Amino acid sequence: MNQPPIKVLASDRSSSGTTQLFTLEVLRCNPLDESEQAYWQSYCVELTEGMTLFIALSEIREQQDPSLQFDFVCRAGICGSCGMLINGRPGLACRTLLSSLQSPTRLAPLPGFALIGDLSVDTGRWMRAMSERLQIWVDGAATERDPCEVEEPMEPSLAEDIYELDRCIECGCCVAACGTAQMRDDFVGAVGLNKLARLRLDPRDDRDDAAFYELIGDDDGVFGCMSLLGCEDVCPKDLSLGTQIAYLRRAMLREAL
Ligand code: SF4
Ligand code: F3S
Ligand code: FES
Repeated sequence: MNQPPIKVLASDRSSSGTTQLFTLEVLRCNPLDESEQAYWQSYCVELTEGMTLFIALSEIREQQDPSLQFDFVCRAGICGSCGMLINGRPGLACRTLLSSLQSPTRLAPLPGFALIGDLSVDTGRWMRAMSERLQIWVDGAATERDPCEVEEPMEPSLAEDIYELDRCIECGCCVAACGTAQMRDDFVGAVGLNKLARLRLDPRDDRDDAAFYELIGDDDGVFGCMSLLGCEDVCPKDLSLGTQIAYLRRAMLREAL
């Protein structure tokens, strides 16, 4: 596929003697305007202590360019909406300090998701399709219980294991970092496999192993994973994604023998 030519626009802000300036080069693209080609736009911000990429982008949008598109909600690494490529590596803008980066730093949208504009991508549509495909919900008699009935207590260690896998914030970084996900549109990614591993632990779900394995036992599931481990390298929640995938694969093989 032909890549659109890239032009570089320079910001008109200049450096001053005592102020430390940081340059961000942002890949600009408006998919709604077919006549517009993608280009890099360069912005300068004054570096301040503790400044994150999110703060810098917000300042740019407020003071220099209101047309710049990027997403955020929580600013605290919880909502998963500010994922982007930071010098080619997926990461969260709100958890990345400018002081940890070199100027200039290049920002681009996460690959593998529908582009909304500039740094904003539609991870929600992808996550929903994956969740529906893998039936990521507790399925069993427990869900039909009288809400006034006291829930069966769970072993604290099991609750902790489930909680650990539940820390996923659906940021999409693992999908953007995965070679398989970039080649196969239907690959459920480390995020999907992790969710299934979490559901499998949940005693409130009545499905047996065979029902789970039917959902992921193909090349779009656990056997599509080539153990590249980019997912685990970039996961901002440090989830043990490689271990979860290996565990699912081993358990499936045991089931088949
Ligand atoms: Fe983000 Fe990690 Fe969840 Fe992937 S597994 S969506 S990288 S939090
Ligand atoms: Fe992709 Fe992670 Fe497997 S990067 S190939 S899902 S180990
Ligand atoms: Fe919510 Fe960054 S703004 S994770």
